[in-house]
Amino acid sequence: MKMIGLIGSLGSIWLVLAISAVVAQPSSSPSPVLDSEGRPLERGVEYYINPAITDNGGRFTLINRNDSCPFYVGQENVSGPEGFPVIFTPFAEEDTVIRENRDLRIVFSASTICVQSTAWKLGERDPESQRRLIVTGEDQGRLSTGNYFRLVKAAVGDNIYEISWCPTDVCPTCRFNCGTAGGLVENGKRLLALDGSVLPVMFERNA
Ligand SMILES: *[C@@H]1O[C@H](CO)[C@@H](O)[C@H](O)[C@H]1NC(C)=O
Ligand SMILES: *[C@@H]1O[C@H](CO)[C@@H](O)[C@H](O)[C@H]1NC(C)=O
Repeated sequence: MKMIGLIGSLGSIWLVLAISAVVAQPSSSPSPVLDSEGRPLERGVEYYINPAITDNGGRFTLINRNDSCPFYVGQENVSGPEGFPVIFTPFAEEDTVIRENRDLRIVFSASTICVQSTAWKLGERDPESQRRLIVTGEDQGRLSTGNYFRLVKAAVGDNIYEISWCPTDVCPTCRFNCGTAGGLVENGKRLLALDGSVLPVMFERNA
């Protein structure tokens, strides 16, 4: 009788441990995003964004789409040393490393002739493809949700990610038409846009 009682209470301890493990899961921090050498991405450090697959254009850069401001987010035509690095700033002020699926600002570490900032911003739809372009500038809305993107681990490959727009950390009660970024070639210029092909990327720390 005593024995059974002991087994019974051990059983409930295991049950409590199992339940607390399940409950603890959502509050544990998401995995850090890793650079091409497997090191966690850090807040405030410069990184180049490169396509993970060859023949998909070069480094990310500012594109003068139409001889007017603002500049758009896009890629160099070919891989090489050209392009501008970006700085990631997590929405969560306590985050010093960049984590998967968390809202963050992405700002090119560069200056342009335009008055707009070089922060990435969800832009207008391209009339032809109906895809939403990524432009630069500050979102003047109350929560600036248009300036918050996130890095999502790609299904295959090590240290490969996708860039998406779905700012639910910034506004948990909002409903967004979320999307993932890929390339859109227009007049030979490689622009970045949601709602179509997806471009897997890697991050190269600017030494
Ligand atoms: C470029 O600007 C011109 C003049 O403002 C406009 O007619 C044209 O549609 C623009 N092209 C693109 C791709 O935005
Ligand atoms: C890529 O090539 C197109 C067409 O020649 C050119 O207009 C564009 O400026 C080039 N892009 C970059 C980033 O140099």
